This record gives sequence, structure tokens and C-alpha cells, in this order.
Amino acid sequence: MELKTVKFSVSSTQFYFGASMSHLKKIARPASSVIITDEHLFDAHPDKFRGYNTIVLKPGEEHKVQDTVSEIIEQLVEMQADRQTTLVGVGGGVVTDITGYTASVYMRGLKFGFVPTSILGLVDASIGGKNGVDLGDYKNMVGTIRQPSFILHDYSLLASLPDHEWVNGFAEVIKHACITDAAMFRELEKHTVADYRRDKKLVSALIRRNTLIKTKVVQGDEFEKGDRRLLNFGHTLGHAVETQYELSHGEAISIGMTAACQLSEQLTGFKHTAKVTALLGQYGLPTYAAFDRDRVTEVMTMDKKRDRKEMNYVLLSRIGKGVVKAIPLKQLGRMIRQLD
Ligand SMILES: NC(=O)c1ccc[n+]([C@@H]2O[C@H](COP(=O)([O-])OP(=O)(O)OC[C@H]3O[C@@H](n4cnc5c(N)ncnc54)[C@H](O)[C@@H]3O)[C@@H](O)[C@H]2O)c1
Ligand SMILES: [Zn+2]
Repeated sequence: MELKTVKFSVSSTQFYFGASMSHLKKIARPASSVIITDEHLFDAHPDKFRGYNTIVLKPGEEHKVQDTVSEIIEQLVEMQADRQTTLVGVGGGVVTDITGYTASVYMRGLKFGFVPTSILGLVDASIGGKNGVDLGDYKNMVGTIRQPSFILHDYSLLASLPDHEWVNGFAEVIKHACITDAAMFRELEKHTVADYRRDKKLVSALIRRNTLIKTKVVQGDEFEKGDRRLLNFGHTLGHAVETQYELSHGEAISIGMTAACQLSEQLTGFKHTAKVTALLGQYGLPTYAAFDRDRVTEVMTMDKKRDRKEMNYVLLSRIGKGVVKAIPLKQLGRMIRQLD
């Protein structure tokens, strides 16, 4: 196990890399902690929760809503949770988002920590302190920014993660490689999802590396004014296709990253779209897709990240180097309609 303390503006987070949930007892004592998880995790790993008061949620994004928060709060009241209680979210991004948000509002704020269990949760959702719930069609409409006290990694939990969730998480890993880490891009080219599933050492090094990439970007820009926007690579168009079609988040941002590479060719002189799409394909992700250009452009330009008449779009200048460019909305629409 490796312990690493990461400082944010007003608090710090302790990362326990390569740890085991048995170590959790030392960080969050069972008598004064409540675990929040979902049925998939609880059923697959019952032993891991022994000794803790545990609130088990129904799995799925559709439960990442205010009603679930209210139900959790009622259970916390029943359990007599107070300001001394620590909430621990054990699960994917849905569970950690709900946990961080609930902990931030219950009694005006409790201490909380995460044990992320999906690839996406490990490399992305658990990091950065943004936690919230959806409101109807609006994702993450209500929420808080507050850093967890600790994030503990227990890679043995990944044994039960379904295939398609591995693929989903690798879309964010490839995103990180594209925007900041050319060496990791080359490593990914040498492997497949199956290699990482098989090889504990390989996957733990990859997760650690990605955790530090996201952490570093967030540290530099905790409240999202500048560089944190790089993390939106593939997400602007990605979110628009995700809402219009039945796609996983990973699939949608993979299509978004492909389009962003094509736009980069015209706007930054980027030359390696074929390398990026080959890597996405190697990890089971879609690239060129026949989405409705007009519809998606319309949805995209209504995105909340729009800045008046132009949109900040994340492009690549080369593999490993993301850049944010303001593109006039009219030009952006024209370019998207012309994508192959
Ligand atoms: N807070 C942030 O900064 C941030 C960043 C990115 C994403 N998110 C949020 O994260 C969520 C997506 O996260 P996700 O992809 O982890 O989704 P998720 O939490 O829904 O998990 C996906 C599925 O995998 C299951 N699962 C997770 N780990 C498992 C394991 N080890 N074994 C068996 N099953 C397991 C879950 O039960 C669920 O069915 C979205 O709600 C998104 O908005 C938040
Ligand atoms: Zn994402």
C-alpha cells in the first residue's frame, strides 16, 4: 500500500493506492462510520462490508436523484449519525457522487471518503470534489464542491466489474493520454482491456497514473476556470450524442473525441486522428458514427458551457497536448455538419 497526501485549496485528500478494504477500519472506524454502496457491490463482496452500518442503494444513474438523497438522510437520522460520523461511498461514480453530496449537506457537512470500484470511478468520478445529483434530464444539476478526506483503492473489487464497464472507463483513460500523456498513449497502444484485466500490476500502475493526472489538473484549477476544462475533451459533442442516442458515456465521448480530433486537424494542424481512432477501436470503443449532425449541433450549442456567441472547445495540438480554443458557434455548427 502507498499513502499519498494531496493538498487542495482548503483541504487535503489522502490516497491509499493498492490498499485493501480491511484497512478501511483504521481510517474510518466502523462504530462512527456509515458505508453507502449499491446492490451490485454489496452482493458481489458481502465480506467487505462486515462490521459497518451499510446503506445499500439500487444501482444505476436513474437513482442519482434528490429522492435517493432524502432516503439516505432518513436512514442516517435513524442510525443517529451526527457531526462525528464519517460517510464512506463504496461503488462507481453514482455512489461516490451521491455520498459526497449527501455528506456535504447532512447536518451542514460530515467527513466523507470513497472506495471507488469502477475504472471510471477510480480514474475520474471520485477525484476532484464535484459531487451532485441529476434533476430530470439535467445531469449533475445540483451539487457541491468539497474534497473527500480519503480515497482508498482496493483493486480486488474490480473482479466483479462487468466487461462493458471496463470499456467505459478506458474511454476516460484514453482521454487523459490524449490531453496530457503521450507516453501513456504509447503504453495503451501495446495492450488491450484484457491485458489490464489479467495483470494486477499493470492495471494498478495505470490507475495510479490516471488518478494523478486528474488530481494534478484539478489541483491547478479546483473551481474550473481554466485548465480543468481540458478534462472535457470529447465531452462537448459526447454529451450531446449521449442524450440523443442509447450510448454509454464511454461510447459517447469516444465519438466526441473522434470529432474533436477532426476539428483539431482544421484548427490546430493536428495530424494523428488515425492513431487516436485506432486506439479507441482497440479498446472496443466506437469512433466515426452516423449521428444526426443538425440535431446534435443544436443540442450541443445549448450546452451550459456555452460562452455567449462562442464555445470553448477542447482540441489536440498533438497527442499528449490538449488545448482549449474558443470557436464561434456558427463556425462550429458548420464544421460539425461537414464531418465525414
Ligand atoms: N464527480 C465527478 O467529478 C464525476 C466525474 C465523472 C463522472 N461522474 C459521475 O459518475 C457516474 C458514472 O460512474 P460509473 O461509470 O462508475 O457508473 P456507476 O456508478 O453507475 O457504475 C456502473 C455500473 O457498474 C457497477 N459497478 C461498479 N463497480 C463495480 C464492481 N467493482 N463490481 C460490480 N459492479 C460494479 C455499478 O453497480 C453500476 O451498475 C455518473 O453519474 C457521472 O455523472 C462524476
Ligand atoms: Zn466523462
